[in-house]
Amino acid sequence: MKNLIIKVFLLVTVFSLFLIGSEKTTVLVSIYRYDDMFMGFVKNDIKEYAKDKVNIFLRDSQNSQATQNDVIDIMIERGVNVLAVNLVNPRAAEAVIAKARKHDIPIVLFNKEPSKEDMDSYDKIWYVGTKSEQSGVLQGKIIHESWIDNPQYDKNKDGKIQYVMIQGEPNHADAIGRSVNSIKYLKDNNIGVDLLAQGEAFWDEDNANLMMKQYLRKYGDKIEYIISNNDSMAIGALNAIREFGYNKGDDNKFIPIVGVDGIPSVIDEISKGNIVGTVLQSPKNQAYAIVDLVSVLSKGGNPLELENIVFEDSKYVRLPYVAITSENINLAYEAYK
Ligand code: GAL
Ligand code: CA
Repeated sequence: MKNLIIKVFLLVTVFSLFLIGSEKTTVLVSIYRYDDMFMGFVKNDIKEYAKDKVNIFLRDSQNSQATQNDVIDIMIERGVNVLAVNLVNPRAAEAVIAKARKHDIPIVLFNKEPSKEDMDSYDKIWYVGTKSEQSGVLQGKIIHESWIDNPQYDKNKDGKIQYVMIQGEPNHADAIGRSVNSIKYLKDNNIGVDLLAQGEAFWDEDNANLMMKQYLRKYGDKIEYIISNNDSMAIGALNAIREFGYNKGDDNKFIPIVGVDGIPSVIDEISKGNIVGTVLQSPKNQAYAIVDLVSVLSKGGNPLELENIVFEDSKYVRLPYVAITSENINLAYEAYK
């Protein structure tokens, strides 16, 4: 009898431990779009790094906020106890945070930064990303230096940069931070600039390719710089101008391009001299921070106790950008390995 009681007791204990164990390790990681080049790298790094640390469910929102909302609802119903969300639309933060708050679930937002007001609306919220402004400043520096070093870039010899700006998406902190601060940096350093054209290509290579062809038909040799909010669009633009004979090795037919991210295809083009530079944001470092946060949260811990992570205002993790030109491309290859 005594033996039986002990056996039953052990069984119950093991079973409840198993329940708690499994309950405590379920995290939804929702990505806005798997076929976004940079986010694809972040996703793969999250998957790899989470392996022995925490049980995650990775889901693709396929660029639809409605899909993302549904996935979150379903996974909450199934009992996930931490959310990590790369919003489709940064403006949807309020509704998504409300879902977490309603169920008292901690939430880590990443890559698409919500407004400060949204970040202040719940006490179990964190953000992993960058300081968007810094990427714009570093683009400005790359453009500035290259402009000074290459007087031939000023095709019409008016001392000013006639440029086109290929932008990401509306209401995205990175798109705004890059578009605004790259130009501000140049103006602050007494470089004259004229905007010829700008448009949103939603971070996408094909959109940027079409857009750039239109700009080229309209402005041709008047274009003295192509500033892109990210690298996928920089590649789209490069392939477009190549179709018109630019950036194929002839110094007299060259339009400088600068991007952001540091993806391998752009690094290859930098090494060949076809793209001037980019600004590295490391998918690895962002993935590591996201996984570290959600694994602590899934165990009921406090992320602020993580020693390897620096928090701003106790809730923002902002990883640094690095300017990349032909001189330091290895840094970028490392971050995207
Ligand atoms: C940016 C990145 C882009 C794109 C975007 C998606 O930080 O530079 O390439 O991935 O995030 O939100
Ligand atoms: Ca000029």
